[in-house]
Amino acid sequence: MALKITVIGTGYLGATHAAAMAELGFEVLGLDVVPEKIEMLRRGEVPMYEPGLEELLRRHVAGFEGSTGRLRFTTSYEEAGAFGEVHFVCVNTPQKHGEYACDMSYVESAFSSLAPHLDRPALVVGKSTVPVGSAARLARLLAAQAPAGEAAELAWNPEFLREGFAVDDTLHPDRIVVGVASERAEALLREIYATPVGEGSPFVVMDYPTAELVKTAANSFLATKISFINAMAEVCEAADGDVVKLAEAIGHDERIGKKFLRAGVGFGGGCLPKDIRAFMARAGELGADQALTFLREVDSINMRRRGHMVELTRDAVGGTFLGKRVAVLGATFKPDSDDVRDSPALNVAGQIHLQGGQVTVYDPKGMANARRLFPTLGYADSALEAVRGADAVLHLTEWREFRELDPAVLGEAVTARRILDGRNALDPELWRKAGWTYRALGRPKA
Ligand code: UGA
Repeated sequence: MALKITVIGTGYLGATHAAAMAELGFEVLGLDVVPEKIEMLRRGEVPMYEPGLEELLRRHVAGFEGSTGRLRFTTSYEEAGAFGEVHFVCVNTPQKHGEYACDMSYVESAFSSLAPHLDRPALVVGKSTVPVGSAARLARLLAAQAPAGEAAELAWNPEFLREGFAVDDTLHPDRIVVGVASERAEALLREIYATPVGEGSPFVVMDYPTAELVKTAANSFLATKISFINAMAEVCEAADGDVVKLAEAIGHDERIGKKFLRAGVGFGGGCLPKDIRAFMARAGELGADQALTFLREVDSINMRRRGHMVELTRDAVGGTFLGKRVAVLGATFKPDSDDVRDSPALNVAGQIHLQGGQVTVYDPKGMANARRLFPTLGYADSALEAVRGADAVLHLTEWREFRELDPAVLGEAVTARRILDGRNALDPELWRKAGWTYRALGRPKA
């Protein structure tokens, strides 16, 4: 009999994890407390844009012609408790309002809703990103609240998937990290991940606190790498150097590596910014705040880039945004996603709007989410429509569609041929040849 797995929380992480578990051959029940989300998933629709996820889902959702039927959805914790032998908790832990710490209320509520329904041996596996120390506390809570007592065990198994590559990262992870307190938990997790481990994914076993820390350490390192190159961009701007060349050259050193050295408007999204802040807050509680004060600098370098992009644009249009039209290409925090959480692109668009500029935004997939978050900005249905009459065009999310734009065609639509590349992803020569003034963060003027 295939192992029965529940996945609690069906956002980016949970929906992907549920479909991936079905793909690996398990019987899966996905749970969410939002009935509309569950209705969509039952229809084989994904509540967000994630390449390949809808296909994967439809291959397994019960009721679809030709599907394996291994994947079902519910809003009932009672059903989840009765169904599963292993329960993955995939709810989100956003930043708390007005504080650096993360909001654990969804995690708390998932655990306390599930626990009373665990009346036989079960393994609960936390995947959410949580402050170190949470797992030990939640393990005690489970044992106390589950009718099965100590037989309701906990493991921590952080997730490293990237939006835009979620399906591939879940099915072929570059490592599987498990924090466990028993051999039984380790054995169950080895069974679940046998396929990727068989294909070569390293399986790293450790205690709870280390597993929790691996996740925040990895995201902090990535954020630091991005802010490092953005700090170099600031120096390049002051010294008339070229940060793109600099990144290419230092990236040849294998110890440094080329990845995550793309200078620009910096990192955003639902993970990196809030994770480094929650990590600082937690270190403070543990009396280790000095160890992470550098993350404050990482954060401020990152936020400074957004402001700098606004200044560069204001200079380009003659010192004031009043009466100026600015086109913003990109609204999501990264390409191949519809996620606009803490998006540098929308932040820049919003600042320009507040300074009196007329902003028109276009994004291939993020329009609906952007409109909800920033209803006062202007929106257009295509890049060409967005740039019509613009005094400056800003490239703020590096969608492939934008790299393929024809500068000559766009040039006909704008008022002034000015492009500011906030992602260092366009080809300056191509734009300059078509008569555009091309400016980018961390690069010489011409
Ligand atoms: C990040 C991590 O990369 C994942 O490993 C992790 O699992 C995930 O957070 C999470 O905690 O759930 P994600 O938020 O999808 O994944 O996005 P990234 O690909 O890390 O990009 C984050 C931001 O950094 C984006 O705004 C991107 O545009 C920016 N970035 C990335 C740069 O500005 N420069 C770079 O060189 C790379």
